[in-house]
Amino acid sequence: MNPNKELWEKGDFTRIAATMRESGEGLVNGLGIKKDLKVLDLGCGDGTTAIPQARLGADVLGVDIAGNLVDAGNKRAKEEGLTNCKFQEGDATNLHDLKDDFFDLVVSIFGAMFAPKPFDVAKEMVRVTRPGGRIVMGNWIPNDPTLVAQILKISAAYMPAPPQAFISPMAWGVESNDIERFAGAGIPNEKISFARDTFTFNFSGAPSALLAEFRKYYGPTMNAFDAAEKEGRTDDLQKELEALFISQNKSADKNTTSIPATFLRVTVER
Ligand SMILES: C[S@@+](CC[C@H](N)C(=O)[O-])C[C@H]1O[C@@H](n2cnc3c(N)ncnc32)[C@H](O)[C@@H]1O
Repeated sequence: MNPNKELWEKGDFTRIAATMRESGEGLVNGLGIKKDLKVLDLGCGDGTTAIPQARLGADVLGVDIAGNLVDAGNKRAKEEGLTNCKFQEGDATNLHDLKDDFFDLVVSIFGAMFAPKPFDVAKEMVRVTRPGGRIVMGNWIPNDPTLVAQILKISAAYMPAPPQAFISPMAWGVESNDIERFAGAGIPNEKISFARDTFTFNFSGAPSALLAEFRKYYGPTMNAFDAAEKEGRTDDLQKELEALFISQNKSADKNTTSIPATFLRVTVER
């Protein structure tokens, strides 16, 4: 089994994605999507951004490595009667069944960054985008003080050291890496722009209950707890993460959670 696929099928990311819907829709509303635009949403999950793209009339293909999330996306599209939105399994490192120069827009929000072989991923995203088209990536930023970067940083301290050849997904959150990776796909520096943006996790429960969702359903957090358990350090990890979730919560109501997280938005003009 592909370990990347195993990681994302392990939990149920739909439970986390449910807290990201408003930000997904907000981001898509700013993309200038028009009817019949051909969009690929890569690492689409259950459609946090793909579904809003289809609501705006785009012709959307969502591709994700996790079969359970592909099924969940197709179910959501069907429930909304969106016949212009289809989800299928695929790997961002090799999109062999997608044509060259086909999509007007390729979107990957916290998706392709999790695939291994980043140079292959950049090449594939560029290959399937038509000349004159656009790629928009959202990438978490290493060492950023906000939620997701901190979850991954805290978790890493409980995990066994990765193999030497391992390239952290967070490396996509560094501008110079992105320039190098897209240069490898033939994209010059001046065609790439960067901005800081925010995604907010909104949850109708206390921060500790949101953490419980991550512990139960978010593959990377599940793995961190599995590793911590082997070392007898589950309580330490729980305490560190709980302090993080509580300190990041901006909601005035103690029974709801609203946590903004900063990411790097990368736009590539093909
Ligand atoms: C953090 S989730 C984000 C999902 C979605 N974009 C969203 O914002 O709700 C990361 C997604 O990337 C997918 N993914 C990870 N590695 C992948 C790969 N090699 N190819 C395609 N999808 C991948 C996972 O299955 C998961 O759905």
